[in-house]
Amino acid sequence: MRTQVAIIGSGPAGLILGAWLAQAGIDAVILERRSRDYVLSRIRAGVLEQGTVEILRKLGVAARLDAEGLIHDGFAIGFANRRFRIDLAGLTGGRHVTVYGQTEVTRDLMDAREAAGLPTIYEAENVALHDFDGEHPRVSFTKDGVAQEIACDFIAGCDGYHGVSRASVPTSAIQLFERVYPFGWLGVLADVPPCSPELIYAGHERGFALCSMRSATRSRYYIQCRADEDVRGWSDAKFWDELRARLDPDAATAVVTGPPIEKSIAPLRSFVAEPLRFGRLFLAGDAAHIVPPTGAKGLNLAAGDAFYLGEALVEHYRDRSDAGIDRYSSRALERIWKTERFSWWMTSLLHRFDHHSSFEQRMQQAEVDFLETSRAAQAALAENYVGLPLV
Ligand code: FAD
Ligand code: PHB
Repeated sequence: MRTQVAIIGSGPAGLILGAWLAQAGIDAVILERRSRDYVLSRIRAGVLEQGTVEILRKLGVAARLDAEGLIHDGFAIGFANRRFRIDLAGLTGGRHVTVYGQTEVTRDLMDAREAAGLPTIYEAENVALHDFDGEHPRVSFTKDGVAQEIACDFIAGCDGYHGVSRASVPTSAIQLFERVYPFGWLGVLADVPPCSPELIYAGHERGFALCSMRSATRSRYYIQCRADEDVRGWSDAKFWDELRARLDPDAATAVVTGPPIEKSIAPLRSFVAEPLRFGRLFLAGDAAHIVPPTGAKGLNLAAGDAFYLGEALVEHYRDRSDAGIDRYSSRALERIWKTERFSWWMTSLLHRFDHHSSFEQRMQQAEVDFLETSRAAQAALAENYVGLPLV
């Protein structure tokens, strides 16, 4: 088999890149370790930046997003039983975010790919990358017990944090930066109306809580928990009680409980690999970086990388210029690091850290108090939350 770009991973990064290349008439094959249904069953992000929505529109896959996505002009910060609003639109000259699940983004991209007859090989096992430091890279894999190989011009490593792409790079060629937080998020998805029409990010001495949603009838809630906790230790009743204990009285009263469709614990991590290019291999999305979910940036960063890489590869094939692929790593990393900073800051602002001294707790409180009263501080938060420009 031969293609121009072999894409490893069928998450948002791989699918957006695949759609971008297809639109420019560039051949690509996506290799995905899991089944289509498995990928679609993973409940992950829920908030899209305007730039991400614009990318999906450009790719012609935003019809359902435009019809069903919920436009949010603001969200609330809760702290110590109070709540104040961040007026995203007012602070950013009319920008907003859209609430639309990652599962739906993935489904729309997969459906469009299938309708256009573009190749995705699901349940590809033992994917291995070869010769990406030379002119003729290859990807080998096993499908239904049969060993196969794809020769290509470039490999796009879009296979997430645990993927094979980054792991294929010699350790001497890559630098890793990491912070592991001493807590995780316990998330619940339930078919109950949200407790508030806008998201609430709540800091509390018992730990952080987030009230989010997927629709007017489906809520997504998270609470900070210990990183090593077993989800089986959290009965439904214990979860709802703990959530309500961390919210202001109005929000707590408005929480409607119901049987969870999904309940799981995700660890929190900040991570960046540098650079993002190794000869003819590029890393994009979670394969290259992880942010803690507090700023809702993981999926949006993956979309940004796919956009930059897509543009660079189109420039290579259409304009016969390598300027874009030479610049991909530094261009993407500049935005990645700013977004890492924001996600780290928002995580630090709102979570309970057991090792914090009473001084550090007062500093955290003072920062929230400043945010409540300073339009300049709110504007900086809003500018980051709606998404930094894709320049
Ligand atoms: P992924 O979505 O991880 O896609 C990578 C794909 O590669 C997967 O389909 C995987 O099966 C495939 N793959 C892996 N290894 C191989 C291999 N060897 N061969 C072939 N294929 C392979 N972000 C938020 O903003 N808000 C959230 O609430 C949120 N919650 C999250 C919860 C969890 C448990 C996780 C893991 C992430 C969460 N994120 C969240 C982050 C967000 O979902 C990711 O940033 C986003 O999915 C990144 O997209 P991606 O395409 O880079 O990677
Ligand atoms: C979600 O709805 O899953 C969600 C929303 C905002 C975040 C993280 C997750 O910051």
